[in-house]
Amino acid sequence: MRRRPQLVPWKAAGRLTERQVSGDDVVRATGWVFNNEKGSDLTLEEFVASGDQEVPAYLTVFGLRSPDNERQTLVEIGCGIGRMTCGFTREFGTVVACDVDPGFLERCHETVGRFGKIDRLRTSRVTDGKTLDLAPNSADVTFSYITLQHCEPDDALELSAEAVRVTRPGGRVVLNYRSRGRMDWLLLPVGSCVRAAFGVPKFGPWLSRQRIAARFGWQANRLHPDEVIGPLSAQLCEVEVWRNTRSKVQGHGAEIKTFDGINPHHYWVVATVR
Ligand SMILES: C[S@@+](CC[C@H](N)C(=O)[O-])C[C@H]1O[C@@H](n2cnc3c(N)ncnc32)[C@H](O)[C@@H]1O
Repeated sequence: MRRRPQLVPWKAAGRLTERQVSGDDVVRATGWVFNNEKGSDLTLEEFVASGDQEVPAYLTVFGLRSPDNERQTLVEIGCGIGRMTCGFTREFGTVVACDVDPGFLERCHETVGRFGKIDRLRTSRVTDGKTLDLAPNSADVTFSYITLQHCEPDDALELSAEAVRVTRPGGRVVLNYRSRGRMDWLLLPVGSCVRAAFGVPKFGPWLSRQRIAARFGWQANRLHPDEVIGPLSAQLCEVEVWRNTRSKVQGHGAEIKTFDGINPHHYWVVATVR
């Protein structure tokens, strides 16, 4: 796999994850990547509870809940340690949790074992950071949250195309991206300096475990909706771009929809596969 410095904080967190005894320890030890707000006494249960609130909210807002869900397969790209995966296993008959880091996948399995429906879970490693090891047309819904912004632009676009490839005709892709912002003139150059510094022996691995550095270094793209939708337009219909009312992001040919639960810096592409 070619060098992808934006993955350094995830790999550092993944290695640390493998050394922790309990899921609570994992949440605390990897606070710089997973736990933005709650401090060092957060438990895995509380962490999963935040996913339990978001899963039904997004499924409802995006019109993805149906009596058929229990017979359907959802693919989650970038599952982490299973914060949302637990909620998905309560809604869908099969959930395929995908992540670049094998340590996170193991913990995801454990988290779902405690708080979700483990018999509905499969995991799949995204070994090269851009290809899903899944059959075409094998998913009814392919979902990704706070993950594609962490990929290089080409990888994010390839994973978006992969989401379409693995979703059956008539199924839905539900993909979250980060939009351009006013502070990007500062954030993007600082981010690339931080990513370069991740490669410095000894200092880089330490830096990648610092919350502020990780936050600068891991946002590796700002894709416009047209860049995402354009290459896939022949394979998609009913294309919607969902955003906060405070966001100005537009997608040509896409219906703009708003929901104030969406981070103002994010947008979602929600579309049906032809
Ligand atoms: C911020 S976490 C989000 C986890 C989960 N979606 C959630 O909301 O709790 C981002 C996850 O994406 C994974 N990730 C980053 N780049 C990836 C890639 N190229 N392919 C697959 N997973 C990736 C990271 O390992 C991490 O687990």
